[in-house]
Amino acid sequence: MTDDYLWFEGSPFPVWGSSYEVIKEACAQFVIKDEDIVMVSFPKSGTHWLVEILCLIHSKGDTKWIRSVPIWERVPWLESDDGYNLLNDREGPRLLATHLPFHLFPKSFFTSKAKVIYIMRNPKDILVSGYYFYTMTNISKKPESVEQYFQWFIQGNVPYGSWFEHIRGWMSMRDRENVLLLSYEELQKDPRSTIEKISQFLGKKLNPEELDSVLKNSSFQVMKQNKMSNLEILPEEFSSSHFKITRKGISGDWKNHLTVAQAEAFDKVYQEKMAGFPKELFPWE
Ligand code: A3P
Repeated sequence: MTDDYLWFEGSPFPVWGSSYEVIKEACAQFVIKDEDIVMVSFPKSGTHWLVEILCLIHSKGDTKWIRSVPIWERVPWLESDDGYNLLNDREGPRLLATHLPFHLFPKSFFTSKAKVIYIMRNPKDILVSGYYFYTMTNISKKPESVEQYFQWFIQGNVPYGSWFEHIRGWMSMRDRENVLLLSYEELQKDPRSTIEKISQFLGKKLNPEELDSVLKNSSFQVMKQNKMSNLEILPEEFSSSHFKITRKGISGDWKNHLTVAQAEAFDKVYQEKMAGFPKELFPWE
């Protein structure tokens, strides 16, 4: 159990798995290459789901890779100690994941042709998912109640800081040819078409059988059973409560957790912080 965050240039990071030196080097020196594919998200937006889909597209629906190699080795985390080392030793084309806010992302990206996929999710569902995640794991400050985590989230006092700043920063890239914006909600509503959209963006054509396999093997039920993907084989120091990343996997769970007053307070902050952004960019009300 930890009491605080690892602070880097004013942004809070989890204390487990990352060190100040590696975060600094990842942000300032990491060279993004043209063939790289980067998955970006605020934590709890459906990152692991997207990563699983990417891996399956990469292997054309073959499940050998996702069944034999842990998800964090297949797609290393840029700002984590282990992930950073893996990436530096890896030949292209590399798949990598990051939660870095836009202003800290390696500047080498801007002169590369690397592809970025940003996945977003209804922030109220992110909040609820984060509450359970940080309660059940030891990677960061543990909330004592939903109300307490609610306050932290609104203030940006959670790992990777303010959701509002994260999405506003990354949204500024949305018109770039090499950036694809996706949402958890569209993946859930129409996974087949969304997977097709991703494979098209990556220039990796799938035949119907391959597409069927990507769809089936990235589903919530299958991922929940795959110990190479659901994080259950991470050491006890990560979580002692048999944590799996596949908690509930639905949209709208916030309605079961936030009071009417909390939801209204959230909407008020949302409207202030997201002022000026066209509502149609987001799939939530
Ligand atoms: P819940 O806690 O709401 O269930 P991340 O990977 O960014 O940490 O996000 C975790 C969230 O994605 C969790 O949400 C988890 O259940 C959900 N998730 C993981 N795999 C999924 C899948 N295959 N289908 C739907 N949701 C999935």
